[in-house]
Amino acid sequence: MRTSATTLYFLLSVYLVRANPIETSYKASCEVCHPTKEGYTNVHLIPHTHDDVGWLKTVDQYFYGQRPDIQKAAVQIIIDSVVDELSKYPDRRFIYVETAFLKQWWDIQSDERRAKMRTLIEKGQLELISGAWSMHDEAVTHYHSIIDQFTLGFGTIDQMFDGLSCAKPKIGWQIDPFGHARETASILAQMGFDGLFFARLDHQDRARRIRDKEMEFVWRASESLGNASSIFTQAFYKHYSAPSGYCFDLVHCNDQPINENPNSGDYNVPNRVNSFIEFVNSQKDTYQTEHMLVTMGDDFTYQQAASWFDNIDRLIKHVNAEQKNGSMINLLYSTPSCYLQAVHRADKVWKTKSDDLFPYADGDHSFWTGYYTSRPTLKYMERRGNNLLQVCKQLSVLAELKQEKWEDLDSLREAMGVMQHHDAITGTEKQHVADDYAKMLHKGMLDCAATAAKAINKLSAKITEAPTVNYESCLLLNVSQCEISESNDRFVVTLYNPLAQEASTYVRLPVQNFKYTVSQGSVPIATQMLKIPDHVLRVPYRTSTAVQELVFKATIPPLGFQTFYVTKTAEESAVPAPVEDDGKFTIQGNLIQANVDPTTGLFESLYSKQNGLNYTGLSQNFYYYLGSNGDMESSQSSGAYIFRPNGNATVINATPEITTFKGELVQEIHQKFSDWVSQIIRVYADNEFVEFEWMIGPIPAQLRLVDPGKEVVTRYLAQDLVTNGVFYTDSNGRGSIERKRDYRPTWDLDLKEEIAGNYFPVTTFITTKNETEMTVLTDRAQGGTSLQDGTLELMLHRRLLHDDGRGVGEALNEKYEDPNSGVSQGMIARGRHLFSFAPISDALGTTATAKARRWSRDNMILAPWAFFAPTDLSDAQWLENYEVVYQGINNKLPENVNILTLEPMKGGEEVLVRFEHFYEPNDDPALSANSLVPIYNLTKRFGTDKMIEEMSLGANRRLAEVSSSRLQFRTDGAGAEKERNIAP
Ligand SMILES: *[C@@H]1O[C@H](CO)[C@@H](O)[C@H](O)[C@H]1NC(C)=O
Ligand SMILES: *[C@@H]1O[C@H](CO)[C@@H](O)[C@H](O)[C@H]1NC(C)=O
Ligand SMILES: [Zn+2]
Repeated sequence: MRTSATTLYFLLSVYLVRANPIETSYKASCEVCHPTKEGYTNVHLIPHTHDDVGWLKTVDQYFYGQRPDIQKAAVQIIIDSVVDELSKYPDRRFIYVETAFLKQWWDIQSDERRAKMRTLIEKGQLELISGAWSMHDEAVTHYHSIIDQFTLGFGTIDQMFDGLSCAKPKIGWQIDPFGHARETASILAQMGFDGLFFARLDHQDRARRIRDKEMEFVWRASESLGNASSIFTQAFYKHYSAPSGYCFDLVHCNDQPINENPNSGDYNVPNRVNSFIEFVNSQKDTYQTEHMLVTMGDDFTYQQAASWFDNIDRLIKHVNAEQKNGSMINLLYSTPSCYLQAVHRADKVWKTKSDDLFPYADGDHSFWTGYYTSRPTLKYMERRGNNLLQVCKQLSVLAELKQEKWEDLDSLREAMGVMQHHDAITGTEKQHVADDYAKMLHKGMLDCAATAAKAINKLSAKITEAPTVNYESCLLLNVSQCEISESNDRFVVTLYNPLAQEASTYVRLPVQNFKYTVSQGSVPIATQMLKIPDHVLRVPYRTSTAVQELVFKATIPPLGFQTFYVTKTAEESAVPAPVEDDGKFTIQGNLIQANVDPTTGLFESLYSKQNGLNYTGLSQNFYYYLGSNGDMESSQSSGAYIFRPNGNATVINATPEITTFKGELVQEIHQKFSDWVSQIIRVYADNEFVEFEWMIGPIPAQLRLVDPGKEVVTRYLAQDLVTNGVFYTDSNGRGSIERKRDYRPTWDLDLKEEIAGNYFPVTTFITTKNETEMTVLTDRAQGGTSLQDGTLELMLHRRLLHDDGRGVGEALNEKYEDPNSGVSQGMIARGRHLFSFAPISDALGTTATAKARRWSRDNMILAPWAFFAPTDLSDAQWLENYEVVYQGINNKLPENVNILTLEPMKGGEEVLVRFEHFYEPNDDPALSANSLVPIYNLTKRFGTDKMIEEMSLGANRRLAEVSSSRLQFRTDGAGAEKERNIAP
């Protein structure tokens, strides 16, 4: 591969490696669009159902229709009914979105039913749209997982319909997510989508766009990728429901069907026709063309599809009959693709947009910024799920495993696909559904880890009779709990590194009160013991007996592993005691020193040993907001979706208790703020950032009226930083977006909620950009802001006792039962921030933001994964049986190239690889430039006897075909065009 002279920052390139060329698809296109009428207002009626992949009910409950007491919703019945009704009349159209449900339906159909669906697709009656496993949330999802779940959905569709070209989705349909991300728009464009449709945007933005006729625009989602990441976008006038009075659903609605018998006393055609014409007239001038898109459906509609289709048939017939009386309205069955083609033919010049659509508010006091943080433990588990999934997929390729059963990889792929849903990772589902998600994800992780273990065994066996090693993952390391390291005298830790470059990490193992030796090969390496902090030992559901952690530094080859052999010696070791620090609370490594103010116990300064600067005037502390329970201005409560604080934040404790622990590898200050807020400030020997490992909970909230719940935040302050209200957050974990306090780039903001309305989604980082940059990296998605200059604030955890009225019908009150007392307590959450305060670029010209993005990847997103196994073998015997170091890639890749994906497709016959240019323009004088990546011989699987094809981002269409067939829309010229130009 060679990139052309145009530098393509942040480019994603996708290749499929296979034994034979792709079969040509059966039919190029099966779009059969009904004709439109020139000079008329063409109303494109889009029959649809919005089927949440879990929300008030679990995924399976929705599919089978269980728990009708909660919601009358059965997706298998919907799809069945639609297939039958479409088959009756060829004019009818329908779109289907959620591949998770489609697959579940497909799996239980006869060949005849499957063929029937295929015919409907070929005839253009049924259009598969979006096609991802679920309709992903856009605020708190990571691009890695978004791309993965589209790939899963697309691959499933290809499998169902044998690669049928017109079954491949071409439209983004993000109708329900609570705000929209620029990186998502870029991803959809790079997958070859022609357009993107959604319903939700800030109510003030909507009003402005309706007034200025800007409901349609071309979203320029990446400056450096130009057209390849631009996408035509349209917001709906109101919502994705049917027009008021025209919901023909027998299960969910009470609107009047059309009685077209003129002899009937209840004949209502004139009334039904006239009010529909009124509705059309009230909206048609909002749009730029003579085409208007009208959604006919809602959540879980079409369980009795006949009532919809029969009435839409009649509506079309009778409204169009008015044309002979001079009506200029033309109704037609349509799909978003047909609508978009009609709009494209109008050949207008469109306005552009290059920021994003966050935060979303549907009222002056209703900012959907609470869900950026809701259910923090589920959000963390999802991020770990992604880390593990990449590890398993890569190892499957490297070990050439054939996928034999669903559990091998699909179990976690599907669980991760479900987790991206806009009521899953968002935390806006009912508690029983959240429990089901966690269970599904946990099973997926265990299955995936078992596959990885199989691969490591295959790759590490030196001799054929080497016994199988029972590798396991320790999923509770975040509360310092690991059965294998705690209860064995001899065990191994094998760390796998999913990066295409060497990785190093500090490993922490919960162990007993003994001395341990750790060796790499047969060479003992440096270790350190650390006390497990009291606040962790007190976690009620922690069942571990370990009171200390064994720490060592590991370096691991690219796409490879390194095994460490750990032995418990006979010598006991006392738990390390805190150091008496002669009144100075200083922790340091080789690169930085962090200081805590001895009088307050709070973080106060950071000294850089590299540039000799001592940054004083820093601080960090915890605060809480009381959640509003409605007030004189609005009845809006704070809840799972919405953040509405009742006043300013209150400090939890201005003088925490502190203890210091020091060693050669790591130094820590443990802070106790209260019974429910604690933290460790930590500096590792070779790291350039400070870690703040926070633990929050159980959040006290008992008396409904006095204390309606709390929302806990951490605030980092740099006194001397003049930021003028500007800060930056990431978009789905990728590029950064400028945020400005009390401001929106595309309309005059009238802000009634000065705190909640300044919150933005932080998927991986929040930063300031001055001469000196303050950056905080997160290990999960959180809400973040900068309410005063020089501060960065992140919401860590929330517990609320009132529902916020957006449908979930439950307060966000996560609890667990204390095994000791039997009493229900609020959930505890623990996590890490990496904090850096450094010049905007270092001596080599690398920007602080670029470094931070890298630290985030190396430590949080694609961190080395630890596999543990007890062993009876001695160190020497181990070395006779197993390779302890393995590198899966022939040569490490250049520093600016990330392997985003390396996974088996079609059960292992094919391999999918995605390369990512990891830098933005001006990130770094060297790393922002192009790199040459040889694909042949990248690993053993990439032999020169293989076919390699360059695919679009979703891996279901060739790049060349997508680039030449995507609809191009003319824009008003804002922003220079750069063509994507790349040749294999
Ligand atoms: C940096 O400043 C802090 C706070 O004034 C002080 O405690 C610390 O000793 C200083 N560090 C160095 C290396 O000068
Ligand atoms: C909250 O803090 C802001 C900024 O410091 C201040 O202007 C405002 O008066 C405070 N509000 C209340 C209710 O104390
Ligand atoms: Zn939804």
